[in-house]
Amino acid sequence: MEQKMIDALNEQMNFEYYSAHIYLSMAAYAGELGLAGFEHWLITQYEEEVFHAQKIYHYIVSRDARAVIKGFDDPEKDFDSLLSMLEIALGHERIVTGRINDLVALAGKLNDYATHNFLQWFISEQVEEEETFMDLIQKVKLVKDAGLYILDNELKTRTFSPPTQK
Ligand code: FEO
Repeated sequence: MEQKMIDALNEQMNFEYYSAHIYLSMAAYAGELGLAGFEHWLITQYEEEVFHAQKIYHYIVSRDARAVIKGFDDPEKDFDSLLSMLEIALGHERIVTGRINDLVALAGKLNDYATHNFLQWFISEQVEEEETFMDLIQKVKLVKDAGLYILDNELKTRTFSPPTQK
């Protein structure tokens, strides 16, 4: 592989590990909100991102090149709401898609057909990743009113028992 391709793949591998940390941070936020389901879902997303990074790691090594592990900035940890956090996640996935597209373009430019072929998996994966977050955002928006209805009904049951006076 040409050094340019190795460097670009290494950058993406590290970006996938960074993505994993972003989702772990989001999982912790969901956990703090008491949303164990979202927390679990985001931890699964974290695992998926580690898998993406490992996939690139193994590919680099299989081509007799060096995988270079780097550090990264702290992921965001405070969000305005669950919905805004998910919108940030979708925005992040769109950035990943752009980066994968750039890698494919570079592989094409360098006539690196093996890497071009390897990256096709990520092209399909990104379609799924964006769709998954778009669906979840849609669901959160749809259940928002239903959730208010449930909460509203729960609030209707509140009673007041005056303390007995002595
Ligand atoms: Fe590895 Fe969510 O892209």
